[in-house]
Amino acid sequence: MKTTTATKLKLDQYDRHKLTFGPSPLEKLDRLSAHLGGDVELWAKREDCNSGLAFGGNKLRKLEYLIPEAIKQNCDTLVTIGGVQSNHTRQVAATAAKLGMKCRLVQESWVNWNDAVYDRVGNILMSRILGAHVELVDEGFGIEFKQSWENALEDVKAKGGKPYAIPAGASDHQYGGLGFVGFAEEVRAQEAELGFAFDYIIVCSVTGSTQAGMVVGFAADGRADRVIGIDASATPKETRAQIKRIAERTADLVGLGRAITDADIVLNEDYAYPEYGLASPETVEAIRLSARTEGMLTDPVYEGKSMQGMIDLVKKGFFPKGSKVLYAHLGGVPAINGYSYLFRNG
Ligand SMILES: Cc1ncc(COP(=O)(O)O)c(C=O)c1O
Repeated sequence: MKTTTATKLKLDQYDRHKLTFGPSPLEKLDRLSAHLGGDVELWAKREDCNSGLAFGGNKLRKLEYLIPEAIKQNCDTLVTIGGVQSNHTRQVAATAAKLGMKCRLVQESWVNWNDAVYDRVGNILMSRILGAHVELVDEGFGIEFKQSWENALEDVKAKGGKPYAIPAGASDHQYGGLGFVGFAEEVRAQEAELGFAFDYIIVCSVTGSTQAGMVVGFAADGRADRVIGIDASATPKETRAQIKRIAERTADLVGLGRAITDADIVLNEDYAYPEYGLASPETVEAIRLSARTEGMLTDPVYEGKSMQGMIDLVKKGFFPKGSKVLYAHLGGVPAINGYSYLFRNG
């Protein structure tokens, strides 16, 4: 695809507190493309290398638009929620440390996985080192507002603190979609330098604001439905509804100038099995393949599933010959430490 012209979105009117290094790098995946037959050119945008804050990841781009409000409101504690090996809570813990704030994390039992050290290594280990108050709660997976999170907010207040409420994945928040509108603007600037535009963008979805922001950002140049969401929640009805709701809210905020439609939200449900947080043998194979062809690591919960989806869609001929496909690598590698049994033989 030739480079595109886009409607000007009003993203600059929102304060942004810089937590990332700047534009994240684009990388051509030559060996993976060749391994899959060479008809499709695969690239990655490395959001996994976007920041020096505790290994980075997609939440920092979102948090850049939430943090100005936390500072303006004089909050002293960031309060959020995720699973035991949540990447999001680790990025919030690092952000709080960088800002000199306190951090309260609710970590629920979202994943049926029992590696002996699952609650000791990887993301949760880092969050503890970063000084967060970590509370383990025995509740199952769900992307809706959780009682345990509301309780933590009340507890911070009761103890005289001023909490700033960040929902799961920094998603269902007024400003949750803005960061990934910025991702689309950034990709357009990089495309102008490269002299072409990507035909498809692959993104893993669970709490929804990453895809929602991209849908709005790429709707500005007619590519909303070229954002191919790969569901990793295994509750796609909820994830799809949340993507749409956040995209609608975000489109209003940035003045997209048209309504978001069902057709704008493309969410492939085929790769989330067997359930949230558990990798299928095909996911593990995809993790090995991208590691061994590109030296690029992905995790069993999120990016391994979107990698599996992209590889399978290439194999099935979903992308026309000559397509340029951008894989959004959203981070998440610290979680592999909680899955050592899966990779005990490589
Ligand atoms: C590594 C990684 N990839 C993908 C996602 C999904 O992004 P979102 O929750 O915005 O849909 C997350 C977080 O949930 C994540 O940590």
